[in-house]
Amino acid sequence: MKKSILLAAAFGLIAAGAAQAQNSTTGSFNAAAGAGIVGSKHDLSLATGIGNLYGQTDALDRICIYCHAPHHAIQEADAAGIGYLPLWNHGVTTQFYNTYQSDFGDGPDASGLAGVGVDGDAQQFADRHLFNGEGTLGEPGSVSRLCLSCHDGTVAVNEYGFDPGRAESRGAATHFIADQFKIGGGGNLTNHHPIGFSYIDVAAHDDEIASPDTVVNGAGEAMTTIRSLLYGDKMECVTCHDVHNTKNTGETFLWKSDTNSGFCLTCHIK
Ligand code: HEC
Ligand code: HEC
Ligand code: HEC
Ligand code: HEC
Repeated sequence: MKKSILLAAAFGLIAAGAAQAQNSTTGSFNAAAGAGIVGSKHDLSLATGIGNLYGQTDALDRICIYCHAPHHAIQEADAAGIGYLPLWNHGVTTQFYNTYQSDFGDGPDASGLAGVGVDGDAQQFADRHLFNGEGTLGEPGSVSRLCLSCHDGTVAVNEYGFDPGRAESRGAATHFIADQFKIGGGGNLTNHHPIGFSYIDVAAHDDEIASPDTVVNGAGEAMTTIRSLLYGDKMECVTCHDVHNTKNTGETFLWKSDTNSGFCLTCHIK
């Protein structure tokens, strides 16, 4: 009796495992928000993750190795201008990006407002019809370039490992990110939510943008504010997504659930 219950439980587990593997091909493989990287879409192991989709061959079936290594990590000199390399173990993108565009052209303020903003940009006047981050907008910051090193589709997801002495630490560079997860393909970031501009500066000019000290989620000392999610003073991929799925409370690694657009409304006072 006991044995058959155990057996049934074991079969249940196997069935659940198979169902998860199947879901991963349709893109719905998901650990619960904030439950950690294991079983999330950033778990590229075979045992608990989606390694089957991305050519996992690591002898130890590790998770962190795709992105970090304890020794012999990539150095700034080899990383095309990327200044933030947290023991980075993944090939990096060298792509130049066309950045966000909304007003197609740099003409004078259509509303006739005269004056110059803090950055000397004539458009820095909380113009309701222009993107107010334009004065500080640049190429994506280093932290976003780490994301784009898999997500823009130019570097294989399994291109990792820079220690020539340890063959088992090197990926085969054969599997590229699936189209539905590609961001910035062909260097095109013009039609994605803007990143690489100063949130602090925009919040100071646009009264429909929340204060950087607004709490996104959590309470007490564990709370996460918008300011704590900026890179310097800039908005980047990590301002919206938590790459390790640890302190976020929303789906798709979002810091806060976007149910009823709750996440958008945290920053946009609309
Ligand atoms: C899919 C790629 C990816 C995987 C897998 C990954 N990381 Fe990271 N990790 C990143 C990126 C990108 C950053 C920089 C973003 C940031 O600082 O928020 C980072 C930053 C870090 C940092 C420094 C910032 C911090 O959050 O403390 C630590 C420590 C870290 N990772 C540890 C780990 C460990 C341990 C694992 C495995 C359990 C792991 N990571 C797996 C991508 C990854
Ligand atoms: C080592 C490669 C790699 C790096 C680096 C990486 N990702 Fe991913 N990411 C993936 C893969 C692989 C998937 C899942 C694709 C699939 O299911 O086919 C994914 C999925 C996602 C998803 C979708 C999650 C979901 O539940 O649908 C988001 C959001 C995401 N990544 C954001 C980021 C951000 C932000 C960064 C940088 C902070 C980053 N990624 C860095 C490989 C990477
Ligand atoms: C303003 C917040 C915000 C920023 C900044 C942001 N994302 Fe997202 N991202 C989202 C939201 C919200 C979703 C869920 C979209 C949906 O389900 O329709 C998402 C979804 C995704 C997905 C899943 C596939 C998809 O297209 O829905 C990936 C991968 C991803 N983001 C990666 C990135 C990367 C890489 C960056 C930086 C280049 C980035 N995100 C910047 C809010 C953001
Ligand atoms: C972490 C804060 C944050 C989150 C979350 C966020 N945004 Fe934004 N978003 C900004 C800031 C700051 C700007 C620049 C605002 C400005 O130009 O005054 C911006 C710009 C925009 C713009 C372009 C405005 C223009 O004038 O071209 C749109 C549209 C937009 N966001 C929609 C969204 C939507 C939809 C969501 C939810 C999926 C979202 N945002 C989530 C901070 C955020």
